Amino acid sequence: MKILVTGATGYVGGRLIPRLLDAGHEVRVLVRDPARVQRRPWSDQVQVVQGDVLEPQSLAPACRGIDQAYYLIHSMYAGDDYDQRDRAGAQHFARAASAAQIARILYLGAIQPEAGERSAHLHSRRETGAVLAAAVPTLELRAGPIIGSGSASFEMCRYLTERLPLMVTPRWIDVPVRPVAIRTALQILLAALDRDLTGVVDLGADPVTFREMMATYSEVRGLRPRRILPTPVLAPGLAARWVGLITPITNDLAVPLVQGMCSPILGDLRKMREHFPEIEPLPYRRAVELALARITQGQVETRWSGSMPAGATYHLTDREGMIQEQQSRRLPTSPARTWEAVRQLGGERGWGAWDWAWRARGLLDQAIGGPGIRRGRRDARQILPGEVVDFWRVEAVEPPRYLLLRAEFKLPGRAWLRFEIRAHGSGSEIVQTAFFAPKGLRGLAYWWALYPVHLPVFAALLDQIEREALRAPTARPR
Ligand SMILES: NC(=O)c1ccc[n+]([C@@H]2O[C@H](COP(=O)([O-])OP(=O)(O)OC[C@H]3O[C@@H](n4cnc5c(N)ncnc54)[C@H](OP(=O)(O)O)[C@@H]3O)[C@@H](O)[C@H]2O)c1
Repeated sequence: MKILVTGATGYVGGRLIPRLLDAGHEVRVLVRDPARVQRRPWSDQVQVVQGDVLEPQSLAPACRGIDQAYYLIHSMYAGDDYDQRDRAGAQHFARAASAAQIARILYLGAIQPEAGERSAHLHSRRETGAVLAAAVPTLELRAGPIIGSGSASFEMCRYLTERLPLMVTPRWIDVPVRPVAIRTALQILLAALDRDLTGVVDLGADPVTFREMMATYSEVRGLRPRRILPTPVLAPGLAARWVGLITPITNDLAVPLVQGMCSPILGDLRKMREHFPEIEPLPYRRAVELALARITQGQVETRWSGSMPAGATYHLTDREGMIQEQQSRRLPTSPARTWEAVRQLGGERGWGAWDWAWRARGLLDQAIGGPGIRRGRRDARQILPGEVVDFWRVEAVEPPRYLLLRAEFKLPGRAWLRFEIRAHGSGSEIVQTAFFAPKGLRGLAYWWALYPVHLPVFAALLDQIEREALRAPTARPR
């Protein structure tokens, strides 16, 4: 089938595309800025059409010859008049889709409350669905908070739980909502292509409260149970500001996220079960386990901030739920030769100019019962997954481009060091990233206390790699 995906740079769209390709569909993507989809794993397998739903004349080429189209767009980051933009965008797209005789639009919207006031965001999501459905047969799949690595709801829960062992919380944390695992949402979005179905279908797994979300998260992460002191106030505006302060989620996004949790929004799963009986929605706990596994493996496909313009307001040192320190360097050596230098780190060769600092850290570690630095390595050149290199454990090796080491030091958190090598012109570029997932405030304090030392230590590590790469004989990578 010929499928159009809008919102391809977004959290959901970016994950749906490879699944559509795997299922054998021909995929066209509508993007405002084609440069934003370059170098995605799927970029050269899709047709990229530049367009903006607020510019109606740009939509005809995108819609021409398409069988079904996914509408995965919202304007929440565009400012206070986002509802007007949502409405205009949906109207323009619906008109273009109708003119191109697209058989159906699949729109991912938001579960609506049964009664009472709905927030401006939820109102706009509903209106978007109605505008599309008025012009073209539309299947509106409605979701609550999507849980997956890098999703906004997951990141909000993750940061609050990791960073705050004690929380004074408003009463909405005991309101049940219906989350859905990103895997389940994607399965249904994909399966829906072959179902003769229009109208509204709510998605989700069993309901949970935000308090339960945080408790489950801390259980899965092995954190000490968080103390929660509920207050009788609701104060969503204040809570959203607090979320903006403690987590990298911006206020634009925190406000609708919090508002979406202030009243029970559960939807009705009967239609989902009737039309997608083979899909068993993943429970919240499993979604958290999978999200954490993805983060740990450095395999986050898309993130909530992916669709935000460059320069968006999240900390560069705070990505995918972890503190990161990244340094890169271009070398005149081939990727294979740079890899030679990387795979020989540690052991007798040491860790660069600051060997005394690594040793001091190792002694401290031994003093508190950790393995220390002196474990060496099995082979000076060969490196295999699961092996030890001094105080690191090798988690992944993909010669000549990727090495992931996990620290086995005693730490108030978990730490990794990752090396990525790619070709750059006639030479190579190496990107070295230190990750730290702090356990509570103690972990954060530890990281920031060591931050001034990290900068020269990690720079020295790159110096060492550069020296070795320039010296190393070219050898076949193992
Ligand atoms: N993520 C969730 O937790 C969640 C939960 C429930 C429902 N949903 C629904 O799922 C859908 C997709 O959400 P998402 O989380 O994937 O969103 P997202 O990551 O914020 O992505 C939004 C997408 O919309 C595109 N876009 C915005 N304005 C546009 C315009 N004028 N013309 C063309 N494209 C435009 C953005 O492109 P640029 O890169 O050019 O900005 C981006 O690709 C939305 O309808 C949302 O309401 C999401």
